[in-house]
Amino acid sequence: MKQASSYSPLLIALHWLSALLIAGALIVAWTLDDMPRGAEKTAWMSLHQTLGVSVLVIAFLRLVMRRVHGVPPHMMETAMDKLATLVQVSLYGFMIWVPVFGYLTSSFGGHPVNLFGGAVQLPLLTPQDHGTHELLGDLHQALAYVMLALVGLHVAGALKHHFILKDDILSRMAPWVGKR
Ligand code: HEM
Ligand code: HEM
Repeated sequence: MKQASSYSPLLIALHWLSALLIAGALIVAWTLDDMPRGAEKTAWMSLHQTLGVSVLVIAFLRLVMRRVHGVPPHMMETAMDKLATLVQVSLYGFMIWVPVFGYLTSSFGGHPVNLFGGAVQLPLLTPQDHGTHELLGDLHQALAYVMLALVGLHVAGALKHHFILKDDILSRMAPWVGKR
């Protein structure tokens, strides 16, 4: 991986945008879970799908950006450093696989994927199959919760760097925090 002295401003912006979109997708998923079927639920599902597909697109964009601009070197000295890097690599994986499983869940359910208020319609990729829809829905949800747990670890790590180790790891992704 190409090395840079800092994260590019675009990569930083996309990191925080991804975090907001993931939080939004989760909140919308919880909101629509209890709703009766109908137009309102369909609208919330479209919003969930829009936020989720945006996470997927931005994840690819971030991976391209990392290659083009490079990223600052990661410390790989302690087991914790290695764990932190593993969590970050996994988060990229989850930002891809959670939306992909969501899309497949919709597709097997025969549910259209209407994004941005119907401006973009994604094709259904598979035949309709209720059993597979249910199975993939459970898997999609389970993967989303594993991702949430990893985000928890990731945030705990970032805060540990800032408040306990007192280094500049947080400020390289959150420049407004200021260097030590
Ligand atoms: C980062 C992105 C995403 C996250 C974090 C996420 C999270 C979740 C969660 C937690 C649920 C379960 C809600 C509940 O029953 O309590 C859910 C359900 C669902 N999501 Fe997503 N999702 C994402 C992306 C997507 C995408 C891109 C699509 C489709 C294009 C999608 C389609 C669905 C569908 C159809 C369900 C209902 C599944 C069922 O009926 O069991 N999701 N999502
Ligand atoms: C859904 C939420 C989040 C996701 C999916 C996520 C994901 C990621 C990923 C994939 C990276 C690696 C970036 C790269 O090298 O290209 C990263 C870096 C980073 N994230 Fe997050 N992040 C989230 C939220 C947060 C939050 C809330 C904080 C702060 C409290 C944070 C702090 C950091 C820091 C400091 C780095 C840089 C680490 C380093 O340079 O070693 N992240 N994040």
